[in-house]
Amino acid sequence: MGTLLSVENLSTYFKTEKGISKAVENVSFHVNEGEMLGLIGESGCGKTTVAQSILRLIEYPGKVVSGSVYLAGREILKASEAEMRKLRWKEISVIPQSAMNALNPIYTIGDQIIEAILLHEDVTKKEALKRTKELLEMVGIDGDRWKSYPHEFSGGMKQRVAIAMALACKPKLIISDESTTGLDVLTQAQIIALLKDLQKKMNLSVILISHDLPMVTAICDRIAIMYAGKIVEWASTEQLLKEANHPYSKALLNATPDLNNLDHEVTSIPGMVPSLVNPPLGCRFQSRCSLALERCSQESPKLMEIKPRHFSACFLGGGNNG
Ligand SMILES: Nc1ncnc2c1ncn2[C@@H]1O[C@H](COP(=O)(O)OP(=O)(O)OP(=O)(O)O)[C@@H](O)[C@H]1O
Ligand code: SF4
Ligand SMILES: [Mg+2]
Repeated sequence: MGTLLSVENLSTYFKTEKGISKAVENVSFHVNEGEMLGLIGESGCGKTTVAQSILRLIEYPGKVVSGSVYLAGREILKASEAEMRKLRWKEISVIPQSAMNALNPIYTIGDQIIEAILLHEDVTKKEALKRTKELLEMVGIDGDRWKSYPHEFSGGMKQRVAIAMALACKPKLIISDESTTGLDVLTQAQIIALLKDLQKKMNLSVILISHDLPMVTAICDRIAIMYAGKIVEWASTEQLLKEANHPYSKALLNATPDLNNLDHEVTSIPGMVPSLVNPPLGCRFQSRCSLALERCSQESPKLMEIKPRHFSACFLGGGNNG
């Protein structure tokens, strides 16, 4: 299983009235072929900014200030805008938060998928229609409904159409950024099950951005946990559930009900994510960490490999003692 996407020391800042917001700082991780990576963390921790940096969609007042993003070995932060336009559908595509962002209410869903295919691939309209019908069937919608308009579908079905659209040009990597938010719990579960099924069948790589830790632990192969613009822990789901290392990861797990263990006491995390304009010197989690040492307010812990393929950024984690 080779590496498909590799993000190295990525930093993205925003200019704000209060100063420079260091929204993403020195973020490194990778996604293997056919792997589903969960990117998780509280609101404002930088998950969407990471996704948009990978897609090169950060606009003023934001800027990717340093780092590299390699897709199948190619540095995409250096690609031209024209190359990026091709790459965005054919190599990486996005399932947006709201299907309404993906679908235009005045065209049939079929015409929209066909247009996306024709724009990016050298195929006839007849071939594009055939693929559109196949895509709809794949996401559980009758292929003949390609002539329907978005308003003729329920919210869950529109989200299925958005998934079909994301798959239209056979990308290798899909980024799903909170793509089931706003749907009822049952529909969310169905959409996520569909995504997992397609990922396995098509050997896709997926970055699943979510607040929903139980869902992410149920379906992702590996998980990267972000806190205040940094990745604080990155491990296989199994390893994280068995031996979470970072105090923030442990706090997130403790803050989540465990349906397999009803004795598990849910404890919310006190305090708030610090402002990313002039973030605290040292560990960004220090104000909420009950284990903080003096060193934690002076030095920033690095993300270190504490066990094979298990990374954590904490002075107590075993990797930052040197
Ligand atoms: N256009 C912008 N201008 C200024 N700051 C921004 C902008 N977009 C994002 N930020 C800042 O970047 C930081 C990270 O935001 P981001 O949206 O990436 O977080 P997130 O983890 O996706 O949060 P959520 O879970 O709420 O979607 C926040 O501090 C936010 O204020
Ligand atoms: S480095 Fe210090 S403050 Fe940060 S998580 Fe570890 S112990 Fe807590
Ligand atoms: Mg977000």
